[in-house]
Amino acid sequence: MREVNITGQMHETRAPRERAFLVGVELRQERPLLPVEDSLDELARLADTAGLEVVGQTIQRLNMPNSATYIGPGKVEEVKTLVNELDADVVIFDDELSPRHQRELEKIFGEKVKVLDRTALILDIFALHAHTREGKLQVELAQLEYRLPRLTRMWTHLARQAGGRAGGSTGGVGLRGPGETQLEVDRREIRRRISSIKAQLEGVRAHRERHRAKRQQTELQVVAIVGYTNAGKSTLLNRISGANVLSADMLFATLDPTTRKVVMPGGREVLFTDTVGFIQKLPAQIVAAFRATLEEIMDADLILHVVDATHPHVAAQIEAVEDTLAELEVDHLPCVMALNKADRLPEGLDPIEALQIDKPAVVVSALTGEGIDELLLTIEAAMVRYMSPLRVFLPYQRGDLLSLFHERGQVEDEEHQAGGIRLYGRIPQRLLPYFEPYRA
Ligand code: GTP
Repeated sequence: MREVNITGQMHETRAPRERAFLVGVELRQERPLLPVEDSLDELARLADTAGLEVVGQTIQRLNMPNSATYIGPGKVEEVKTLVNELDADVVIFDDELSPRHQRELEKIFGEKVKVLDRTALILDIFALHAHTREGKLQVELAQLEYRLPRLTRMWTHLARQAGGRAGGSTGGVGLRGPGETQLEVDRREIRRRISSIKAQLEGVRAHRERHRAKRQQTELQVVAIVGYTNAGKSTLLNRISGANVLSADMLFATLDPTTRKVVMPGGREVLFTDTVGFIQKLPAQIVAAFRATLEEIMDADLILHVVDATHPHVAAQIEAVEDTLAELEVDHLPCVMALNKADRLPEGLDPIEALQIDKPAVVVSALTGEGIDELLLTIEAAMVRYMSPLRVFLPYQRGDLLSLFHERGQVEDEEHQAGGIRLYGRIPQRLLPYFEPYRA
């Protein structure tokens, strides 16, 4: 099977790096999360991550996008001149272009210059970073769905290189029915591939469901770590689990999130799971394709939102993450914020106050370990707050339930009597059925 790659052969021919020119647009009636200049800086970092060399950029402020070329005709000419002067191979727009925009712009810039947008770039980076089977399938699905309406361009582009075989398509002339154009054949091939990936994903998901069911049998509570890309989620997970990790890493078959068992300060065991990084203007295709992976978050008992407190646009990043959480309908879950990278914060600055954070939050440094103990205590306290109160009388032969209460819940009072043990405390809701017969 050939890898489908939106940006053509970019990763197969890494050296020399392709030269990218960036274009940002500020639409006057819209209120973006980031000023256009900063969004463009982020795009430059994305381009760098994808292996491109950024050679120049430009910005235009518009009332509305031009229907044919997105930017205005004068700007198109300016970009064309700069692209020639700078010998750029790719022009990347910071917003999602319609298939028409892309086609028109490529016509004007000439056949040597590729036109991409932020979505294609992010999809490409995800393709580089997906390692599990499900992750790869999800990215390919997102790429194909992005590609389908843009096929004309792909077709002409690839026809030049490969004599009429669209990348990812197994087909070609042999599959063509009477009167069908190559384009129709390619579209049909892509649709067929999309159906096949969806079916494969169903299989992988059924497998993961079984994993999840198994995990639920262990009745451990789950903390999902979320955050803007580069906030320090993985570093924090390593820091938290490094000293406490009980068993080997457990990998559930998702887009490579690592799940680790951690012993909390009160002695309870909890699973921490890392998730895919968020970003502003996260392509809709990604959110859709990764819904299943993100369902890990929906399954969680608590969300740990990691924030890079030193980032100049920390407030916008928090908002982008909260918007995505709302989109996933998990904004009702208890949430604790870790304001990370405290080691780089200016002396005397309290980010919790500066950002007016109104949920449990702790300033930490995943790098130095500062604040980590307090973070774990805060997470534990938040989890306990969401547990159900329970009063039971357990006969001595139910030592298993006694341990379960201690390991997973919070025992506040324990009294040994003649026929058994009287207990009062709090326990995760999902464990209540076990104790039902012994309620006192
Ligand atoms: P994505 O995979 O993009 O979602 O990133 P992530 O949130 O998992 O971030 P990661 O843990 O990879 O950290 C990103 C960068 O921040 C790395 O270079 C880390 O070394 C750095 N970093 C993480 N925590 C800290 C911290 O407490 N202080 C400092 N100074 N740097 C940190």
